[in-house]
Amino acid sequence: MPDFDLQAYSASWQPVIDIDLEEILAEISASRQCPAELAAAMQQAVLGGGKRLRPLLVLAAARACGVDERRAVLAGCALELIHAYSLVHDDLPSMDDDDFRRGKPSCHKAFSEAMAILTGDALLTHAFDVLSRGVEAEQLQRAVGLISRAAGPLGMVAGQADDIRRVKQPLSVEEVEFNHARKTGAMFTAAVELGGVVARADDDQIKALSAYGRALGLAFQIVDDLLAHRGDQQSLGRPTGSDEANLRQTHPAIAGLENSRSRVKLLIEEAERELAIFGDPADALLGIADFVRQRA
Ligand code: IPE
Ligand code: IPE
Ligand code: MG
Ligand code: MG
Repeated sequence: MPDFDLQAYSASWQPVIDIDLEEILAEISASRQCPAELAAAMQQAVLGGGKRLRPLLVLAAARACGVDERRAVLAGCALELIHAYSLVHDDLPSMDDDDFRRGKPSCHKAFSEAMAILTGDALLTHAFDVLSRGVEAEQLQRAVGLISRAAGPLGMVAGQADDIRRVKQPLSVEEVEFNHARKTGAMFTAAVELGGVVARADDDQIKALSAYGRALGLAFQIVDDLLAHRGDQQSLGRPTGSDEANLRQTHPAIAGLENSRSRVKLLIEEAERELAIFGDPADALLGIADFVRQRA
């Protein structure tokens, strides 16, 4: 397969995603219903920063299934709104208590704690309005189901709830990975499945996309922990002491640096293998897997 230029791919699609996100938020700002402060907080939480990895995964999965990325952009934006909400709540004083996000003051610092809670609520609920506009009626039921399962008490919120339990006894590597799989892996899996659903993928394709998403999402969170451990503030856009300050049991803290790195390598290879059934159109998904590998 010819080398895929992920940077060029992101550079061409990120602005398209951003234009839609800007429009979505401009519509809210322009409405008399929404208080200016809430609209501004939503805008700051979503715009100006962020790798847009989840929408890119939606697009790349649609591409792997032979469908033009354009058809998946709005669905990708819906997922990015949910992701942005999760970050706003993740940074709250009662959660990770992080004052910076994407190189800027986090939502509760720039506004207030109450406004940050409401901003998260608003982004999560509005995401489903955007989804309803971005997915055709025939696929919408499936899309709503998979996203709410991934984001809710069986997925991301479950992982977050376990993550704040700051248990004193050491977790096993399996337990840490179980947390990662829900708090981060579920949304990665939902992203590629959503791309598949938009593209009317068949069951085998959806199964392969799910397996790819699970492996990639777990690898991504391990890498996030590795970067935090390494003190790589620039890659993370936030200070890196909070895992230690919160006594968080991260993957490298439990498994050891070398084992975490090897695990990432294995998971990425696993993700890549799952893409075999798609052939060349899986190039963008392979590129994203390689990006996660290179970050470690
Ligand atoms: C950060 O996700 C939170 C995790 C799940 C580790 P990203 O690293 O994708 O955050 P942004 O959107 O690029 O800021
Ligand atoms: C974030 O996990 C996962 C979600 C937001 C659901 P972390 O707390 O490890 O992510 P960062 O490092 O703050 O981005
Ligand atoms: Mg957290
Ligand atoms: Mg955090």
